[in-house]
Amino acid sequence: MTLPHLEKRENGTALIVNDKPFIGLAGEIHNSSASDSGYMEENVWPQVTALNINTLVAPVYWEMIEPEKSQFDFATVDYLITSARAHHVKLVLLWFGLWKNAGSTYVPEWVKLDPATIYSQDQYGRHLLAISPSDQRSIELDANAFSHLMAHIKQLDEAESTVIMVQVENETGLLNADFDHAIDEDQALAQPVPASLAPETQQSWRDYFGETAKEHYMAYLFASAVETVAAAGKKEYPLPMYVNAWQQKPLDVAGAPFPGTYPTGGPTVKMVKTWRKVAPSIDLCAPDIYVPNFTEVTDAYFDQQDALLVPEAARDLTTVSNLIYAIGNYDLLLFSPFGAEDFFKAPEKTDPQLLKALAIDPSAFEQSGTGPAIATAYRLLKGLIPLLAGNQESKRLHAFIATAPADEGARIRLGNCNVVVHYSPLSTEQSPAAGFVLELAANEFLVFGINIQIQLEPSTQTAEPVGILKLEEGEMVDGKWQGKRILNGDEQYIIKIGQMPGLLKFKTFNY
Ligand code: DGJ
Repeated sequence: MTLPHLEKRENGTALIVNDKPFIGLAGEIHNSSASDSGYMEENVWPQVTALNINTLVAPVYWEMIEPEKSQFDFATVDYLITSARAHHVKLVLLWFGLWKNAGSTYVPEWVKLDPATIYSQDQYGRHLLAISPSDQRSIELDANAFSHLMAHIKQLDEAESTVIMVQVENETGLLNADFDHAIDEDQALAQPVPASLAPETQQSWRDYFGETAKEHYMAYLFASAVETVAAAGKKEYPLPMYVNAWQQKPLDVAGAPFPGTYPTGGPTVKMVKTWRKVAPSIDLCAPDIYVPNFTEVTDAYFDQQDALLVPEAARDLTTVSNLIYAIGNYDLLLFSPFGAEDFFKAPEKTDPQLLKALAIDPSAFEQSGTGPAIATAYRLLKGLIPLLAGNQESKRLHAFIATAPADEGARIRLGNCNVVVHYSPLSTEQSPAAGFVLELAANEFLVFGINIQIQLEPSTQTAEPVGILKLEEGEMVDGKWQGKRILNGDEQYIIKIGQMPGLLKFKTFNY
C-alpha cells in the first residue's frame, strides 16, 4: 500500500489514501480538546461522530510532546490514532510547534524560559510573545521535535495510514508589527533577494519589492523556518504537509498605519508564490476562511496551486453551501468547519473578545442549524467520493452557488437538455443556494444541492421536448445507487431541495 500522497490526474489533483482517491469531510476540534483523552471521550467523539465526518483535524502540542529537552512523550498522539481508528475516521494532525496564530504559546517551558531564545520585536523594540523566525536555534529545536513526532507516527501507523496529512505550525506570520525588529531592518532589506525566490534579479529586497519588501522578507523568513521543520519531518515520514493562513481582510494593511493587523508574512493569497518557492516540502498553502467572500479566497488559492484544502471554515449556515460548492468546483482535498464538537450542542455565544482578538466576525460563529445540514451533506457526500475525488475538473461536473442577492440561478447545458437551477432567495435564516450536477451517462445525471429548485428544458429552442423517465431520491453506497422515494406526481411538478442537502438522480428522454 502506498503512503498518503497527492497525485495529478487527468481530471484534477487527488489526495490518495490507502491507494484510493479520498476527500476529507472533516471537522477541526477546539485548540485544547486533544490535550486530555477523558475530555475527548466525553465531549468530542460523541459529537463529531454525529457530524458524519470521515476525518478529524486535531492538534498535537510541542509542549506536551517534549516537556523536557529530548524527553519525548507521545501519549496524546497515540490516543488520537487509536481512538480515530476505533471511530473509523482518518486524522489530520496540526503541529502546534513554534507558531500558533502568530504567537509562540505552544513551545515547551524550557524553550520559552531559555535566555538564548530570541523573541520578535515591534517597531519600539518591545518583545512580542512570538519567537523570531530569525532564531535558527529555536527552529532547529522545533525541527528536531517534529522529526521525532513523524518518526513515531511512521512506526505506529505506516501500515494503516490513519494519519493522512500534517499541518506544519498554525497561522504563521507576525501580528502587531509589520517587521520583526529583532532583525536590523535597513541591513536586511539592503541585501540582494535570494536566488531561490527571484533568480532573475540581483536587486535588494527594498528595490525589487518596493512597498511590499517588508512583508516579502517576513514571508521568506517564516517559509524558510517552516521548510526546515517540514523537511526534517518528511525525512522521517513523508506524509503530505500543508500550511494554513489567517486571511488578510480588505481593510487590513501590512504597513503603517496598521502594522501587522493580520499575521504578516503568513501564507496569505499574496504570499502563496513566495511560500511555494521557499518551502518546497510544503505541498499546499491552505486558507482558513471565516470571511464572507469565500469563493474569492478559494479561487485565488486554487488558481495558484491546482488543488484546494480548507482546513478551517466558518460555523454559520453559509459553510454548508461553501462545502457543497467547493467539492463540486475545485480539486478539493479536505473541508473542515472549526469547532466540530460544538455543532450539536446548545448554541453558546463565543466570547466577543476572543473573536475580536482573532479578527473573526461573530456572524461566522453563529452555528444555529448548521450541524444537521453538515451531517446530512457529509453522509451523502461520502458515497460520492469515488465519483468526485480526482475528477473535479471533469467537464461532466458543474457546480453553482449564490453569492449575491441578484444571483437567481444557473442554466447547465447537458447533452440532451438543460438543467435550470432556481436559487431560493438569500436570507440569513438559511444556507445560500448551492450544488452541483454530475453527468453519469447520456440522459442520466445526479443533482446534489441545497435550497434550489430544478427544471428541465430542451437544449435548444428547436430541440425535442425533454421529459423525466425516472426521478429518485437516494444515495450512493459502495459505488452503487441506492434509490429511496421515487418522485412523481406533485413531487415532480416542483422539484425542490430545501435546507437539508439532498441528492437526486434523473433519467431523461426526449419526446
Ligand atoms: C484560527 C486558528 O487557526 C484556530 O486554531 C482557532 O484559534 C480559530 N482561529 C478560532 O477559534
